[in-house]
Amino acid sequence: KPLTIGLIPADGIGREVIPAARQVLEALPSDVMPAKLSFVDLDAGFEYFQKHGVALPTETLAALKSDCDGALFGAVSSPSHKVAGYSSPIVGLRKQMDLYANVRPVISGAAATASGEKRAIDMLIIRENTECLYIKEEELVDGADGKYAIAKRRISEFASRRAGEMAFSMALQRDAMRQQLPAAERTWAGRPKVTIVHKSNVLSVTDGLWRETVRSVYEGNPEYKARVDIEEQLVDSMVYRMFREPEAFDVVVAPNMYGDIISDGAAALVGSLGLVPSANVGDSFVVGEPVHGSAPDIAGKNIANPIAAIRSAAMLLERTGYGSAALAIYRAVDKVLATGQIKTPDLGGKSTTSEVTEAVCKQL
Ligand code: NAI
Ligand code: MG
Repeated sequence: KPLTIGLIPADGIGREVIPAARQVLEALPSDVMPAKLSFVDLDAGFEYFQKHGVALPTETLAALKSDCDGALFGAVSSPSHKVAGYSSPIVGLRKQMDLYANVRPVISGAAATASGEKRAIDMLIIRENTECLYIKEEELVDGADGKYAIAKRRISEFASRRAGEMAFSMALQRDAMRQQLPAAERTWAGRPKVTIVHKSNVLSVTDGLWRETVRSVYEGNPEYKARVDIEEQLVDSMVYRMFREPEAFDVVVAPNMYGDIISDGAAALVGSLGLVPSANVGDSFVVGEPVHGSAPDIAGKNIANPIAAIRSAAMLLERTGYGSAALAIYRAVDKVLATGQIKTPDLGGKSTTSEVTEAVCKQL
């Protein structure tokens, strides 16, 4: 059965890094990628909005739903002022396709960290992506002592349970992929581990429900209990520990806002934004998306780092059941980074987007 991937480059460097990711997918040898790949080019973005008055066309959504097994999204340029009728296409996509978790691996691999030292960071952050404070129920009130503002925070059993399920199942999936690696290349030697992030010592009702629900997913599943370890970490000490000993984490699962903050912080541990991939994941669909934005300062110059997009493509493969193909891409990228020769300017090099992409293809 062929694997059909929707390609949504959208704005700015999205138009350079998504074609690069496609080129790498097409270079996968058939022993690691048994299925035939086909691609569907799809529109979205701010520039599209300026021409057509809509940022996420219904044709794009319809094609994703009827023809595609997954998609790759580049980046959108968001206007800094409010523009009538505009709403972010990636936010719309997450809603429409019920992509309820944002998954972000933070991998040091062979790349030097920001400080130049090498540490084996191989962490996967799973951020619940539908609720928490981001339901945007805010209110400004004229109080007796002046104005105050209040925000609601929604934590549901339903959303917490499916985020928890995803964390434990991905912990097992990662473990299975690691077993394919030679021992010397495994960054995580022990049993898979899930760290539950919360602040239930203060927010005992909302974070309390989150914590209990995620724990109950674990307690209720004999396979998880037999094969995965769990620990809990208050969000503040999570940040501290993550910067002190990032190599101590495997899978980390967090409510929306904590997850947003720790995942951006974690990206700083591994250097350039141009290296960090993500995936928006639901039960039946996945959209790979580099973490960076449209980078207007470097767009159109063929110098954007394609690695975040290439790794996002690998995440898509991992999630659609092609773990060996994903692993081949991760390793090819690591090898290119390890040579230290072929790198884009954000990593201190002089190579172009095309040169890095070709180097990855060659490793494959
Ligand atoms: P940005 O991520 O686009 O750029 C930040 C800095 O990192 C820039 O100096 C850029 O050149 C550099 N950079 C980013 N990706 C790179 C890559 N692949 N290779 C080399 N260098 C890279 O964030 P910024 O500048 O805050 O936002 C620019 C636009 O992107 C805005 O309109 C913003 O709203 C949008 N944006 C979109 C996101 C998305 O689509 N998910 C996420 C973040 C920002
Ligand atoms: Mg963020």
